[in-house]
Amino acid sequence: MADVHAKIPLTGGSDFWHTPAIPEADLPELMWTDGPHGVRKQSGSTDHVGINSSEPATCFPPAVGLASSWNPGLLERVGVALGEECRALGVGVLLGPGMNIKRSPLCGRNFEYFAEDPFVAGELASALVRGIQSQGVGTSLKHFAVNNQETDRMRRDSQVDERTLREIYLRGFGKVVLSAQPWTVMCSYNRVNGTFASENHWLLTEVLRDEWGFEGVVVSDWGAVWDRVRALKAGLDLEMPANRTHEDGVREALAAGGIDEATIDRAFGRIERIVRRAAASLADAPDSFDVAGHHALARATAEQCIVLLANDGVLPLARETTVAVVGEFARTPRYQGAGSSRVNPTRLDNALDAIAALVGHEVPFAPGFATAAGQELPADAREQAVAVAKDADVVLAFLGLGENHESEGYDREHADLPEEQLTLLEDILAVNPNVVVVLSNGASVLLPFADRVRAIVEGWLLGQAGGGALADVLYGVVNPSGKLTETIPHRLADVPSYLYFPGDDSGVRYGEGLFVGYRGYDALGTDVAFPFGHGLSYTTFAYSDLSVTATDGGLSVAVTVTNTGSRAGREVVQAYASIAGSKVVRVPRELKGFASVTLEPGASARVEIAIPAAELAFWSVQDHAWVVEGGEYTVEVGSSSRDLRLSGTVAVAGDEPFRPLTLASTVAEGMSVPAFAEVVGRMAGDAFGSDPDLMKMMESMPLAALAGFSGQSPRQLQALLDHVNAVRQAAQG
Ligand code: BGC
Repeated sequence: MADVHAKIPLTGGSDFWHTPAIPEADLPELMWTDGPHGVRKQSGSTDHVGINSSEPATCFPPAVGLASSWNPGLLERVGVALGEECRALGVGVLLGPGMNIKRSPLCGRNFEYFAEDPFVAGELASALVRGIQSQGVGTSLKHFAVNNQETDRMRRDSQVDERTLREIYLRGFGKVVLSAQPWTVMCSYNRVNGTFASENHWLLTEVLRDEWGFEGVVVSDWGAVWDRVRALKAGLDLEMPANRTHEDGVREALAAGGIDEATIDRAFGRIERIVRRAAASLADAPDSFDVAGHHALARATAEQCIVLLANDGVLPLARETTVAVVGEFARTPRYQGAGSSRVNPTRLDNALDAIAALVGHEVPFAPGFATAAGQELPADAREQAVAVAKDADVVLAFLGLGENHESEGYDREHADLPEEQLTLLEDILAVNPNVVVVLSNGASVLLPFADRVRAIVEGWLLGQAGGGALADVLYGVVNPSGKLTETIPHRLADVPSYLYFPGDDSGVRYGEGLFVGYRGYDALGTDVAFPFGHGLSYTTFAYSDLSVTATDGGLSVAVTVTNTGSRAGREVVQAYASIAGSKVVRVPRELKGFASVTLEPGASARVEIAIPAAELAFWSVQDHAWVVEGGEYTVEVGSSSRDLRLSGTVAVAGDEPFRPLTLASTVAEGMSVPAFAEVVGRMAGDAFGSDPDLMKMMESMPLAALAGFSGQSPRQLQALLDHVNAVRQAAQG
């Protein structure tokens, strides 16, 4: 198709959810829709913030739940099911997964993100992408990049230093692009270090394509483009949704020489490729999907997403135990987040019915508090709840956040549970100490009552089948095995980003740098309520025989895990790495690998975790590159970031680039090069004598300054440096 004018419409949507048909190219229209944890296909009135309804589809647990499973294989299966539903519903690209880092528990959209750690987020998002795309359906990795809050999300400037940007905020995206090639990447609304993501050439072209080799389409978040011409030049391909003014702007710019044909051709070609791929896979798609099978998968998934935070032995419950259920969430589940990701579920299970079915009779229930705006409750709802709780052996208190407490579009103002729920809990505890709290929330909440209740079950948001999964965990039909991918702090002020989040109209400074989540809590030694990686089981696991060895490709870690309890269970084994005496700022430890193992009572298995060398790299600001520092690495293995059972060390050669000595190198750097140490020592002696204390003071002095003090000419010194550098480089090959 020769005419560039006919290609321009494909650089934008034709409406809210479609790219246009281009008859001249024999290209059909294609539907793109949310996502990520279910298909939100609107057929009536359209919107992009979850207001109008959509066709029924399976609502799987949102990312906050999925992540707690630490189970890439499971996410891949969920991805396959999502892909099947997309095909059945005629959707070519599903807008997800979202994988921004949880920098603060206050971010209104944390339910849609995986973790405070880029390694686990990247591994899990890759699995989901692989699953969905295996069905010939595209994904959209979002929101690229540094979109870690909702406050002023369409304008705010995220100000992040180079190393933090690379190691924390881009690393997970890079992992998914490199390992799973999502068909599309969605650029975020915000600015990144001064430039809107949609117009950020460095981000969309230099990093995403030139470095990572991204081959797909960059699509804008809905309404993220201010100027389509600038965006196309930066590397965006597709503006969504439709915007006629912007389309006209491209025509005008083309006529005026403000954009060249090649830029439009390039975007067209990329979009055309995925439209043809999707159209081919939709051509022979069935018109229905396995509703019951997918509901069962949603339940099996939810079972692995539940995190048992605390338990003094009250759980699992015996069926004969007299329980009372308090809290509307038991009857009207909160199972997904609010906003663009809202799915219209095919079915919806609640925990109250599931508990009744499990024990074989109705259980006493009182809603206690309202969970949604406008919900009418009797005036004495609280008294009724206390009365129901009073006579039970165990009270199951279903607490959490309502839809209006956390949502896309705004952040939370505090991290507490609603006041009325906390008061109700106190009233219940006053009449019955045997309380088990079951939580429904998309982002972590503070748990000041943790020591005064008998167990806490973190149910996050579990999708449409979560009710049954919760009942199964409470009664031990399922042994819980989920683990936290975000730290639960004692106080909001303990959160490393606390002083900087969410910034103001001058921007949001990522002042905590690398020290996000557990990296920061560990560096400061802050006591936390529940650490990253934590999650209990009804059985116990012992770790033994750790081996850590260097291989050609990185590190090989192996450990024996034994189920020392009396129930079968799954353990998520985590491996954290650190390096002693690093030359650069380091966090105490970083997750570099994980694996799950399911064991019968008494059984053991050898769990192997490979850590590729690239995972050990830090981003060197000096070299603008990933560098594996040579040295002694420690690998700690355990059940959470603060329950590390075994550790081993291993020497790693590293791949530090050759760094020539210059006049700006320090005395210490000069001394560290054997061939040059003597010269530096002599110059120092000439200038300051040989007092060791003085020598220590001079270690950080640049060689140029030392030359001045010792009467050496900079030119002579430079000649010497050139010689030494040449010899060193030759020796390094
Ligand atoms: C959200 C995206 C979503 C898009 C389309 C935006 O407001 O940020 O995540 O995919 O709308 O609904």
